Amino acid sequence: MGNSPRKLYAHAFGCQMSAADVAEMSDSLAERGFALTSELSDADAVLVGTCTVRDHAEHRALSYIGRLREWKRDHPSGTLIVAGCAAERLGPELKKRFPHVDLVAGSKSVADFPALIGSYFSSGAAADPLRGRPGSATGGVCGSVTIMRGCDSACSYCIVPSVRGPESHRAAGEILAEVRRKAAAGTREVTLLGQAVNRWRQGTASFADLLGLVASVPGIERVRFMSPHPLHLDETACRAMAENPKVCPSLHLPAQSGSDRVLGLMRRGYTRADFLGKVAMARRLVPGLTVTTDLLLGFPSETEEDFRASLSLFEEMGAVSAFCFKYSPRAGTPSASLQDDVPREVKEERLARLHSLAAERSAAYLDSLRGKEISVLVETAGADSGRGLDGFKARLDGPALTGTTVRAVVSGRVGNLILADILRRHA
Ligand code: 5AD
Ligand code: SF4
Repeated sequence: MGNSPRKLYAHAFGCQMSAADVAEMSDSLAERGFALTSELSDADAVLVGTCTVRDHAEHRALSYIGRLREWKRDHPSGTLIVAGCAAERLGPELKKRFPHVDLVAGSKSVADFPALIGSYFSSGAAADPLRGRPGSATGGVCGSVTIMRGCDSACSYCIVPSVRGPESHRAAGEILAEVRRKAAAGTREVTLLGQAVNRWRQGTASFADLLGLVASVPGIERVRFMSPHPLHLDETACRAMAENPKVCPSLHLPAQSGSDRVLGLMRRGYTRADFLGKVAMARRLVPGLTVTTDLLLGFPSETEEDFRASLSLFEEMGAVSAFCFKYSPRAGTPSASLQDDVPREVKEERLARLHSLAAERSAAYLDSLRGKEISVLVETAGADSGRGLDGFKARLDGPALTGTTVRAVVSGRVGNLILADILRRHA
């Protein structure tokens, strides 16, 4: 009694799903009396969300866990929890490699996490922190809600289906309750998350219906989603984007490659022409749409010609930016049996070429905004910056209320940061 609350330091590697899982697990720990801290040295518990999508991502997470040995030495009664996709892949091996890890909770056990920590803290393995004051759930201006977990696709390079398991779709009622909770706590923009987010459905309710329902939650000003699968992108979802002004007209549609031969080896289930057809459909239905993508380079046997097809796809789809990744073989995936024959230097060189094309395209897009009016949702505590509907960051010429949307005229850019002057007229 009278104890100050125990503190939790949480860090997520990897994608937005990993960040969302860590946030959900942090909430469970908050219910057990932990308050969030941004200082590792103050923490009584550390929660690390790991990623395994590429070897490099896994390495980064694991070397971070290695470095936490020092924290554990200074906090011998502290609890180190390792969660996420690398934890799922490595399982008990993780504790063998890192004996200072107290609890492993892989990405398949997010739903069981409250029970897991319940039994951990009541087993006497650690002092139960419940006596502390409950921490508060976070209510940022931008939040995310996981609407489906796992993946039923079988892209030959991807470890996600094995570490996250088959698809499961959350019930609409649960999703909406979470969105309402977040809106009440101050969230104005919500990103719906899933590995193939547009495959969500429940009974007769489609993903398009869900977009409309989420957009109608009072307090929610913007809705985004990440990442839709191109194969399943349909007219109803695009119409829902067009019909709900709160759904941002921005689409992150992972292409992975522009070469039909490579797309076949990747088992993506579509051709270049199919993919471009989806983009054209989305552009036709959603006015002012901006499109971004993921590209994976250096897949086994990728030739210079195949790679050029990815460069040209990037231009042809009119993407304004892209996440670009060097292929990394993952144990147990179908493509791991193919020889990883694109030399490292070639992968590096292709990555650099993609990055420079991406930078060029982002710059051209942002330059085209000059003089145009945009809407910026103010996110920061300093209250002079936020994001446009396209997802690009914007800095305003003066402060505005955090959580409000302001109209502003683009005056220029610094790198990929939009500079914009607030329109101070009153309607
Ligand atoms: N190697 C490199 N990149 C990969 N991705 C998925 N698996 C691999 C892999 N084995 C990329 C894809 C995906 C993004 C999240 O990560 O581009 O869209
Ligand atoms: Fe996200 Fe995939 Fe990495 Fe898991 S393995 S954290 S799902 S990117």
